[in-house]
Amino acid sequence: MIGRNKCLNNAKKDIDDEYYTQMVYIEDELKHYKRHFKGKVVYCSCDGPESNFAKYFKREYDNLGLKGLNISNGLDFRSPESVAMLEQSDIVVTNPPYSLFRLFFSQLIQHKKQFLIVGSFTGVTYRAVFLSMQDGVVMIGASGSDKAAFDCPDGKGGFIQKVAPAIWFSTLDSGVPVKYLELTCKYNAKDYPKYDNYDAINVNSVKEIPCDYEGVMGVPITVMRVLNREQFELIGCTEDCGPGLSAGLWFGRSNPNQSVLFGEYTKCNTDVWNGGTTGCMVDGVNIFKRIFIKRRKR
Ligand SMILES: C[S@@+](CC[C@H](N)C(=O)[O-])C[C@H]1O[C@@H](n2cnc3c(N)ncnc32)[C@H](O)[C@@H]1O
Repeated sequence: MIGRNKCLNNAKKDIDDEYYTQMVYIEDELKHYKRHFKGKVVYCSCDGPESNFAKYFKREYDNLGLKGLNISNGLDFRSPESVAMLEQSDIVVTNPPYSLFRLFFSQLIQHKKQFLIVGSFTGVTYRAVFLSMQDGVVMIGASGSDKAAFDCPDGKGGFIQKVAPAIWFSTLDSGVPVKYLELTCKYNAKDYPKYDNYDAINVNSVKEIPCDYEGVMGVPITVMRVLNREQFELIGCTEDCGPGLSAGLWFGRSNPNQSVLFGEYTKCNTDVWNGGTTGCMVDGVNIFKRIFIKRRKR
């Protein structure tokens, strides 16, 4: 938060970015990570003194055994001053602007920082996020929900509460295990058709994942919240999230010149490259973004 009263210098404030995190949401997640903070310097890098992240770490400074606390207080996270503070810190904890999430995330990965940050659930399909999750470097937080209540400016100098999609992304292990999914549905070719353009079957919801299918399945992105990696291999996601992400399942050919920014593919909509449509299709109909998984043999 660049202060609830103050705008970012030299930057147009994007109203969609002004979602202030409530204390209860921070406390409910942070309680799982206390052991990671001892002797560490925390950086709240999109926060002013009124941010609940800043308040939480000031209040819990001694309990957590922190070595230091940096608060960005209006700095652009890309500015040299903020990058210098990032370099001096061990763990970044904040809710960054949604409109700059890709850049923010890539910066943390580039600087090899530990972090615990709030983002929108669709972030799981961003190229850098997906690859980090596939590598097991980044995990989804302990909170079971993919929505949270935020305080948002009401345009009249006050705040209203809004519920928005939100999830924690972290390099720190919460220690809360992801349960095995209980699967009850059985595979049949009619309900689980093959895609026109990917070598996988389509599954319409997480609860419909068939218990008896051995091949690759395309499932809705919500699976990332409940995916036990001992139960399923995480193979890839659709190419419209970035060239090469489907691990060869796509029948088309990626364009190596596709725009990549900070190692991050920036276009997200269903897209036609030189090799064909990149969004999953069944009988010519586009299906929403999919994650590709395969059951491990037990
Ligand atoms: C989703 S809000 C969250 C605010 C605060 N971190 C919290 O959790 O309550 C994102 C904040 O980042 C600020 N912001 C926007 N662009 C920024 C930038 N380039 N660098 C740092 N902060 C930025 C916005 O003004 C906004 O206050």
